[in-house]
Formats: sequence, structure tokens, C-alpha cells
Amino acid sequence: MNTLRVDKVLRADKRGSSWPLIVEADSRLWLMKSHGAAQGPGALVAELVCANLAGALGLHTPECILLDFHPHTPTDDANDELADLLNASVGLNLGTALLDGAVDFVASDVLRVPPEIQAAILWLDGLTQNIDRTAKNPNMMWLGEQLLLIDFGAALAFQYSAIPVTESMPIQAGPFLDEHLFRSVGELPEWQTWDELFASKITRDVLKGAMECVPQAWLQRQRELYEAFLWKRLKWPRMYAELPKPEPRGRASGVPDWLRAFSNNR
Ligand SMILES: Nc1ncnc2c1ncn2[C@@H]1O[C@H](COP(=O)(O)OP(=O)(O)OP(=O)(O)O)[C@@H](O)[C@H]1O
Ligand SMILES: [Mg+2]
Repeated sequence: MNTLRVDKVLRADKRGSSWPLIVEADSRLWLMKSHGAAQGPGALVAELVCANLAGALGLHTPECILLDFHPHTPTDDANDELADLLNASVGLNLGTALLDGAVDFVASDVLRVPPEIQAAILWLDGLTQNIDRTAKNPNMMWLGEQLLLIDFGAALAFQYSAIPVTESMPIQAGPFLDEHLFRSVGELPEWQTWDELFASKITRDVLKGAMECVPQAWLQRQRELYEAFLWKRLKWPRMYAELPKPEPRGRASGVPDWLRAFSNNR
């Protein structure tokens, strides 16, 4: 994994709740997400692992590197809160290439994305338990016509589980796709074929490679647990890929089936 030393901190990017920082390293600008931010280093594990898995599915993300932040690095922003964040973030942090000219994806852009790409994104978010790709918060950007996925920080929720990870835990679908922006492609006849295709691309070596990029200091759990959890989640039954059909249109919500049947027979 490419690692660069941060030469200068320019400012905090207030667009993100995790207070990403704009920094300079090797004469380029990077968006740095810090291990000392409120979300903690687990969010950085999720970012890096998911970006790797996205690449294996042929999806695009901004270039990712590790940023080594040293004490007393010059900064243009003297804000106290920022100083606290920097003090808490000495060591390795996550850098993504700061995309000049990229624009945020908005919900009405859905039709610009071909169904197979939508399906790959929906499937990836199911595999990685990513709840953060909704109409309100799409977490994608356009660089010209290229679609880039950003912000996987909420994924891999299992790493925070207060109870020990059990055999059945990786299989559980979870609520991860209920509000997903691309939820409807899961109802297309091609979905099952796509599911098998995507699963075949995430080999054990791909998982291993994704985990090997992660610095030891960020890990919430043993490295092997992440790999084993995702590997088990990839195996049949992939419950996150068995998307339940939505409620039929016009069906009154909250009316129990027995009452509807009773009323229909009168
Ligand atoms: N690599 C990048 N280059 C340019 N702009 C970016 C890049 N990554 C993110 N942004 C911009 O910064 C915003 C916040 O980024 P991101 O969603 O990754 O941060 P976050 O702190 O996890 O945000 P939140 O939790 O508020 O969704 C994005 O909506 C986007 O506008
Ligand atoms: Mg975001």
C-alpha cells in the first residue's frame, strides 16, 4: 500500500461529518480521513476494504493511499478543534485523491447509471453491510461521465459487535438494503445471474489482498476475522442477495392478512 508523509494541512473539509482534512503530500492534494476522528479507525478499515472490493467488481473509487501524519506538521488552519483532531491522528490515516472538478451524485442521476452497474453497487453494499447509499446520502461523485463511489465508513458494522461473532451472524441479511438508492434492480430477472457473477469475482485472494492493505493499528478485530466473516457472507445462502419483494402497490399498510381475507370474503 502506497504511503506518503503529510507535508502540510490546508484545512478541514466541512462537507463531511467525519471532518475530512485537505492535506498536501508529495506535491498533491488529498482528502485525509483521520483515525482520531469521532468515527474511529474502524471507519477507515471499512473505507479501505470496500474500495478494494469495489475495484474487484470493476467499480471506480478515488485513488486510496496511506498518509503518515507526524506531530508539528505545518498547518494553515489554526482552529482549536482541528488541532485536537490532528493531535489524535498522529500515525497512519487514510488518503483519497482530491478530485478536482468532481460533482456530487444526486438522486435524480439514477437513470444515468446502467442497471448492471447499479446492481454491482447494490450487491457490494449488501456484502459489506453499507447502509450509506440512500437518496438523501448517495455517497457517489461524477468525474465527467465516470461514476466514483465514496464514503464506505459506515460499512463492516460487524467489527463493532458487542457480542462475539457467531457462525450464523455473517449469513444474516440485515436491514442494509432497505433504503438503498438502487434497490429496484434487485427485482430484475437478471439479478440472480448478476449475484453469481459478482460473487465469483470476490475470491479468497481478493479478500486477503483487501485485508493486507489495512494497517494493524486500525483493526477493531483480528485481521483473520474480517476475512472469514466476508468469506462466509459470500457463500450460499447469500441472504443479502435474496431481496424480498416490496409490498404490492395499493395494499393498505398495517392491515393484518387475516382481516383483509375476512373483508374480501364478505
Ligand atoms: N476524493 C474526493 N475528492 C473531492 N471531493 C470529495 C472526495 N471525497 C469526498 N468528497 C466530498 O466531500 C463530501 C464528504 O465526503 P464523505 O462522504 O466521504 O465524508 P464523511 O465525513 O464520511 O461524510 P458524511 O458522513 O457526512 O456522509 C462528499 O459528499 C463530497 O462532496
Ligand atoms: Mg458521505
